[in-house]
Amino acid sequence: MKGIILAGGTGTRLLPCTAIASKQLLPVYDRPMIFYPLNTLVKAGIKDILIIVSPEHAGNYLNLLGSLLERDGINVSFKVQRSPRGLADAYLLAEDFLDGEPSTMILGDNIFQDDFSEAITSFEKGGRVFAVKVPDPERFGVVEFHPETQNVISIEEKPSSPKSDYAIPGIYIFDGRATEIAKGLKPSSRGELEIVDIHKAYLEQNALDVRILEGAWFDTGTHDSLLEASVFAREAKLGDAFAPILNEAILEHNKEIKRHVALKQ
Ligand code: TTP
Repeated sequence: MKGIILAGGTGTRLLPCTAIASKQLLPVYDRPMIFYPLNTLVKAGIKDILIIVSPEHAGNYLNLLGSLLERDGINVSFKVQRSPRGLADAYLLAEDFLDGEPSTMILGDNIFQDDFSEAITSFEKGGRVFAVKVPDPERFGVVEFHPETQNVISIEEKPSSPKSDYAIPGIYIFDGRATEIAKGLKPSSRGELEIVDIHKAYLEQNALDVRILEGAWFDTGTHDSLLEASVFAREAKLGDAFAPILNEAILEHNKEIKRHVALKQ
């Protein structure tokens, strides 16, 4: 199982903060946002992680994460996405990295309280995504469940009349077919390769497993949700529950920076 973090995009809803900084490097309480999705993957035991970044901010990501987990046997590599062509573009950019292997992709601005270890290690084939009850499903990909069997009937992207309150959050587990499926996609009316079209392709093959998520989930794309995520991270002590190797690596990294600062003085 390989890991992908999608950390490109334009972050227009967070302007002016994102005029000079990448959204996924903005702080969520006491650490840059990207550490949260990175932790979700590291905690699930994923050792090979590709981070997709935009050209303007690539250097900052390399600086922060390039050798952070090197000594722990976790290989972090980077790929530049020249323009934000949509979430499904990740599977095209990651083709060589994935080399036909299954992957867990997490959006760089999604913060989860849940531990996905079981969902990831028990994954065999097809696709596995999650559903969370939300007050504003029209903003997301929405899953419709059969009222009796609970089987998934449909998935719609940002529907004006949602058929349920269940949104699909930004973590997707797919087998090696995801790249081939992405190659067959056409851009949507908003000009993007849509992740929901990959979900639909697996659903049509009867190969999509949808699990209900219980823990808190934040999509930190707006000023309000970013603030809410920070408050939650502090109250729920999300940082304390990070994988020990990641927390140790962050402390070591901080120490190194302090040593450099001291040497310069
Ligand atoms: P979005 O929040 O949908 O897009 P955005 O980050 O560009 O923000 P805005 O809508 O405010 O302009 O993206 C979700 C995540 O996926 C986020 O972490 C950015 C990332 N992303 C990419 O890396 N490449 C892309 O092509 C897109 C569309 C998003």
